[in-house]
This record gives sequence, structure tokens and C-alpha cells, in this order.
Amino acid sequence: MSKKILRTSLCDQLDIEYPILLAGMGGAANAELAAAVSEAGGLGIIGAINLTPDELDAEIRKLKKLTSKPFGVDTIAPTNMVDAATIDELRNYIPEEAVAYASKLVKELGIPVPDGTRFGKEGGTGWAAGMTPKQIEVVYDHKVPVFAAALGSPAFMVPEAHSRGMKVIGLVGTVNQARKEAEAGVDIIVAQGHEGGGHTGHVGTMPLVRLASEAVAPVPVVAAGGIADGRGLVASLALGACGVWCGTAFLCTYESGIEEVAKERIIKMTERDTRVTRVFTGKTCRLLTTKLIEKWEKEGPMMPFPLPIVMCTSLQDHIGKAKLVDYYFIPAGQICGAVTEMKSAGQVVKEMVEEAVRLLDEDLPARVKTRK
Ligand SMILES: Cc1cc2nc3c(=O)[nH]c(=O)nc-3n(C[C@H](O)[C@H](O)[C@H](O)COP(=O)(O)O)c2cc1C
Repeated sequence: MSKKILRTSLCDQLDIEYPILLAGMGGAANAELAAAVSEAGGLGIIGAINLTPDELDAEIRKLKKLTSKPFGVDTIAPTNMVDAATIDELRNYIPEEAVAYASKLVKELGIPVPDGTRFGKEGGTGWAAGMTPKQIEVVYDHKVPVFAAALGSPAFMVPEAHSRGMKVIGLVGTVNQARKEAEAGVDIIVAQGHEGGGHTGHVGTMPLVRLASEAVAPVPVVAAGGIADGRGLVASLALGACGVWCGTAFLCTYESGIEEVAKERIIKMTERDTRVTRVFTGKTCRLLTTKLIEKWEKEGPMMPFPLPIVMCTSLQDHIGKAKLVDYYFIPAGQICGAVTEMKSAGQVVKEMVEEAVRLLDEDLPARVKTRK
């Protein structure tokens, strides 16, 4: 079959073949996955949130060996974080009450953990506010073509990024946020609806994309949240978006960085198996529902962003060692119901494009009559 053509203005803006962006997912969107999406004609984006500046540097080098096509890096740019330069400093903010609760919980759930464990991930990652500027330096040094940030605005770096020929993407969950990003000069706005995996707002993808596209035009809007195939892509274009930003669709690919057991679990999940909780990071975040999350929500202490993630990633290490998959923290969106088998990332992109083209060229004209 000949190669399909599916182009929008986003393809020209980012110098890519198809208007499909890999969502920058910490832990999942590694160099292999990002390179595979770029190679397939989309834009691969490394999720840098869990990486130290040195690790990010290594990941970008790895990607550059795998592809010479455009790519991006995504991290967070939050404004209301406790002032900590490293994760080790961040650990000091975790209240004793929370450590005590986690110790009690692991005993109740039978998660084997040595007595006296402090539950705070060691090492430095992007979850500490002091890390973001260092990650951005790495991005500049590597002349990364696209930088994306969520949970805060990347607008502060637009002039510098533009002077280096880079594009800046801001992720938003409301029309107001989209307007602010557009006014601040961000190049592309990703509007992520409630159904999306990871941090998410209250507004669904349909109203958000339609309203945000209109509100910020001519600034391009890319749709996110619940999009995993050609149907989602075509619907997004109809709503006014010029492309899609997909996370959950790529979780169960051979290249994705999440653990194999997590992939197996996602494949079995339906659209009802996720929930939005503050347990994982302190902000509303969509994850697969587990007994651990339900229990913590009912009786556990709530902490401000990003303290819970420092505890939860440490808990996750113990859960992983004990192979207690049912307690894993796995961010995923409602569209996990459509993720039913393992594929390569290239296959996901190819099928998305082929289905979208078929819909536009054949299925919709056959199903929808606009003339007598
Ligand atoms: C496993 C996972 C990790 C994520 N990590 C991040 C992240 O580090 N930074 C970010 O901006 N968004 C993150 N997100 C959100 C995605 O960027 C994206 O907006 C979302 O996945 C879109 O919805 P979908 O999952 O329905 O495709 C994550 C999502 C998932 C599923």
C-alpha cells in the first residue's frame, strides 16, 4: 500500500510528516519511544520529569543516535512548588504523619518493606523546582527543536527559545489558561481534556478543544486526552485542532519505558478503570484505580504537590520488588479501553494515519450525506 498523506499546518510548523505528537510522559516516553514516533513521521517527545540533568543529557544523546528527525523534551514548569533544589531537600518536607501512615499501610497490604523505611525517593529529579532550569540548560545545549511544559507556563523561556530557533508548547486544561499562554507568545497550545492520563483538569476534551481553538486562533491548538486512533484524530481536527498529543495510546508499545507488568495490566483495563486522585502527586492526576489508592484517599494524609510523588515513587520501588502489580501507580487515560494489544510505536502511528485517511476519504462521505 502506498504511503498515506495526512498533513495540517502543524506539520509545516514542526517539520514533521503527520500531525501526531507523542505526549511527554515521565517514565514512559524515553529516547527509544520518542525516536520511534519521530521515525514514523510524528514528533517524539522525551518525558524528562523523572530525569536528572545528566540523565536527560544521556537520553537526548541516545535519541540522536536513533533518529535525525525533529523531536522534543517535556518537563514541568510549576510556579507554586515548595522551594527545594533537589529531591533530597524535598524529602525533608514530608511530614512524619505521612511516613507513619505509609508504614502502617504497607504492613496492612502485605508489601514487604524493612522497618524504619523513610519513604522518600533519593536522588535528584525534575520534581524539585530547582531542577527545571538545569533541565532547560541541557535542552538549550542540545538545540532540542521543541520544548513542552505542563503544570505551569513555559512562557518565561519563549524569547530565549525563539532566539535559538526552538518552538515552545504549553499544556492547558482550560480556555483561560490557553488564552494566557497564547498572549505570552507560546507557539503551540496542547489542550488536554479530563479524560487524559496523568495530571488533568475538569473540562472534557470535546468542549475544551473546540472552545480553546476558537479562543486563541490563529495560535495552533493540539488536542489531548482520550485520543488513541484515527477516529480521535479526525474528531480533533473537526473540533478545530491541528493535531493530536497522545499518551495512553503509546503506553503499551514495545519501546515504552513503563514496566512490562504495567503494560499487561493496561491491556486488560476498560474505560472505567481509571480515577482522578490527588494521592499520587498532590494535584489531580488520572491513574489506574488500585486498592491502595482507594484506601489512601479514604484515610491517608493529603500533602501538597509534589511531596506525594516523592513518597509514592519510593513506595513503588517496594511494590515493584514484591511484584504486587495490583498496587502499582500507573498513570493512564480513559482511552486505555481501546489499548488491547502490544504494538510497536511505528505501528500505532501508521494505523492512526491510515484510519484517519480512510475516514476522511471514504467512511465519512459514505455514512454522512451532505447532498441529495
Ligand atoms: C504514564 C503517563 C505519564 C505522564 N507524564 C507526564 C509528564 O511527565 N509531563 C506531562 O506534561 N504530561 C504527562 N502526562 C500527560 C500526557 O502528557 C498527556 O497529556 C496525556 O497522556 C493525554 O491523554 P491520553 O493519555 O488520553 O492520551 C502523562 C500521561 C501518562 C499516561
